[in-house]
Amino acid sequence: MIVDILLVLCVNLSDEPDPPEVKNMRRSEPLDIQNATLDERNWAAHLIAASEPWITLKTSLEQCLAICSDPGYMTYIAHLSGQPCGAIILHPRGLASSPYIKTVVVAEAYRNRGVGEGMITFAENHFRENSKHLFLCVSSFNKKAQTFYERLGFLPVGEFKDYVIEGESELLLYKRLR
Ligand SMILES: CC(C)(COP(=O)(O)OP(=O)(O)OC[C@H]1O[C@@H](n2cnc3c(N)ncnc32)[C@H](O)[C@@H]1OP(=O)(O)O)[C@@H](O)C(=O)NCCC(=O)NCCS
Repeated sequence: MIVDILLVLCVNLSDEPDPPEVKNMRRSEPLDIQNATLDERNWAAHLIAASEPWITLKTSLEQCLAICSDPGYMTYIAHLSGQPCGAIILHPRGLASSPYIKTVVVAEAYRNRGVGEGMITFAENHFRENSKHLFLCVSSFNKKAQTFYERLGFLPVGEFKDYVIEGESELLLYKRLR
């Protein structure tokens, strides 16, 4: 009986159309993206500081905490089943007066399930009405993220050599939103 009810719930959940901001995602579970609470800012800072590429870039926990609590940035948290699973940090005029994705990170256990794509789609939808352009940077050694952004339609438009650490570049990527 309980199994039947659960099955019906699962069928109903996956039949439900995704909300517009997550419609591109290959996931039956809806992704809930909200402004970060204070606790979630702290959670995001610890996640970023403990993840590549920021370990190699030597970004300290203090720097991550400062970015996640900076009111100049917009920090959003993605949730699956009520649990925080990823963070995206945006600036509405971060590059050449156009929107800029400062950071995107998904907790390791939640990767390859469309959470990253959902957060990028959320940022694109958030900015599309007021901007034709969206920028972000990716480290030259971060090949997985480069493939991810390429699949989502971002194009390389510039390179900052030796920008954060010697011997590695930050690649500037661009996507036209409309
Ligand atoms: C880069 C990052 C944000 C991507 O997040 P993610 O949630 O794993 O991304 P997605 O699940 O949307 O896509 C990742 C891959 O999973 C695959 N995928 C997505 N949903 C899937 C599904 N339901 N079933 C099978 N595969 C799936 C996609 O094809 C994609 O492949 P690609 O990246 O080679 O193109 C994540 O890997 C991360 O946090 N990395 C560390 C931090 C980092 O590098 N951030 C970027 C700094 S610039």
